[in-house]
Amino acid sequence: MRRIAVLTSGGDAPGMNAAIRAAVRAAIARGLEVFGVRHGYAGLIAGEFVPLGARQVGGVIERGGTMLGTTRCEEFTTGPGQAEAVRQLRQREIGGLVVIGGNGSQAGAHALFRQGVAVVGVASTIDNDLAGSETTIGTATAMDVALESIDRLRVTASSHGRVFLVEVMGRDSGHLALVVGIASGAEVIVIPEVPVEAEVIAGEIEAAYGRGKSHAIAVMAEGAKLKADELAGYFRSNQDRLGFDTRVCRLGHVQRGGAPGVVDRMLATRLGAAAVQHLADGRDGVLLGIVEGKVKATPLAEAHRRKPLDMDLLALARALAQ
Ligand code: F6P
Repeated sequence: MRRIAVLTSGGDAPGMNAAIRAAVRAAIARGLEVFGVRHGYAGLIAGEFVPLGARQVGGVIERGGTMLGTTRCEEFTTGPGQAEAVRQLRQREIGGLVVIGGNGSQAGAHALFRQGVAVVGVASTIDNDLAGSETTIGTATAMDVALESIDRLRVTASSHGRVFLVEVMGRDSGHLALVVGIASGAEVIVIPEVPVEAEVIAGEIEAAYGRGKSHAIAVMAEGAKLKADELAGYFRSNQDRLGFDTRVCRLGHVQRGGAPGVVDRMLATRLGAAAVQHLADGRDGVLLGIVEGKVKATPLAEAHRRKPLDMDLLALARALAQ
């Protein structure tokens, strides 16, 4: 193998650039030629390849987002889309591909691997829901961004004695909401994995005020069945009985746009460099993530599945919300 390509796919995550940089420089150090694919799988299908040298990835380690651009590409989920992607790689004699992304992206990587492409995935999503890794690129930074916002919200919530319903990202997984909820000392955490009724939350908030609290923060994952607006509507329509003055704050994409912190830069650097090593050694068809603190390869077939929530953390959150 003398040529490889690297792409980022799905939702961007702080640290993706650090992973691209590490992959490019690790490849150059091995005498490989590297191409970046612009705009994820859409660019792979369209043949958007750009040569990347050490200087092209200079000054990116500290930048959020992805210098290559990213997409969620419907066409790539189809047989013809994947066949065209394979053709584009073969036409350029690219012998290996690094895919930096989350579940959907790694499912795509697995599809390419089954069609004979040497692929190595790098675990990257702020949702931290990939089965092949205890943590994923972008998670730590996104959580810090959310935490800083919630700390600020608590100040104003306390001044006014208000309830704040703070929606954080997490389409299918409550991991981000759970960790951020614990770390911010939230009174309530609402996640997709544990459905809950509005009246139950109302009771928890009433009890919190009853214990002398001057505010209540509910951290709600966007993917939870009960939505923040719905809960706020319930509180408002029961205003006379409950007496909560409620505000909703949706943090949304603000969480994704931060500059990567040291944890994500290091994680991305380790995984990006290891991806090239795995390709060069012919140990492809795997997702690289962190297991027990070490870089670990898991077959793509298993790794792109959703990681279950850490139930011990849920128990901890419940025990501490007093
Ligand atoms: O990348 C994961 C994620 O941030 C989810 O938490 C969120 O639901 C989704 O991406 C949002 O995607 P988009 O940027 O396409 O709106």
